[in-house]
Amino acid sequence: MTNQTIRATNATIEVVNHPLVQHKLTLIRDSKTDSALFRSGLREISQLLAYEVCRDLEPEKVEINTPLESMSGTRVDGGKLCLISILRAGNGLLDGMLDLMPTAGVGHIGLYRDPDTHVPVEYYIKLPEQLEERLCIVVDPMLATGGSATAAVQRLKQAGAKRIKFVCVVAAPEGVEVFTKAHPDVPIITASIDRELDDQAYIRPGLGDAGDRMYGTK
Ligand code: PRP
Ligand code: URA
Repeated sequence: MTNQTIRATNATIEVVNHPLVQHKLTLIRDSKTDSALFRSGLREISQLLAYEVCRDLEPEKVEINTPLESMSGTRVDGGKLCLISILRAGNGLLDGMLDLMPTAGVGHIGLYRDPDTHVPVEYYIKLPEQLEERLCIVVDPMLATGGSATAAVQRLKQAGAKRIKFVCVVAAPEGVEVFTKAHPDVPIITASIDRELDDQAYIRPGLGDAGDRMYGTK
């Protein structure tokens, strides 16, 4: 199945419908899936989504010698990339992407949702330098109310980032609307846009609390 690209209020939302992505998403949605399998499924999904996120990178030409002759190849300069994990659950996507882009810069933004208001509270931030020269790929499996992703991207822009993409696994329509209104210049790449948020601001059908499922906490 081909990807679905949605354009709304000048924003781009790419829903990756690849059968392997959907297979692994179904696996991690299943409440019978334990933490170890949940983490490995998330890691595999992150690598498949990385393929989509990096599709429009501009590689550099590089001259090499094969064992038989010289040729002109291409390389991606990891120094022009930056992966930003929204803690905790963002780390479930970060590690798999780092396997593919080992020389990318790495940043962390620690946010948790206040259990009553669902407003994100920042508790940590550490970002690499020269953000303005890098494509910043922000990762978090869940886009629910959109508060955490919107706040994280705001902090990145304040720190100088100019080119940003946001990667999640499951998004709620409500979160997509909030995020694209605040940051229409930041494309969203996701494996699914689910039905709705419930009255606890959990995504339905969703996959539950991503951080808790990754680490077996409650
Ligand atoms: C989850 C998730 C997102 C956020 C999404 O994190 O990983 O960061 O909720 O919700 P929102 O779109 O309504 O802001 P959580 O706050 O549970 O923290 P955790 O990753 O430490 O578990
Ligand atoms: N955060 C999660 O981890 N899951 C949701 O459904 C909503 C927010």
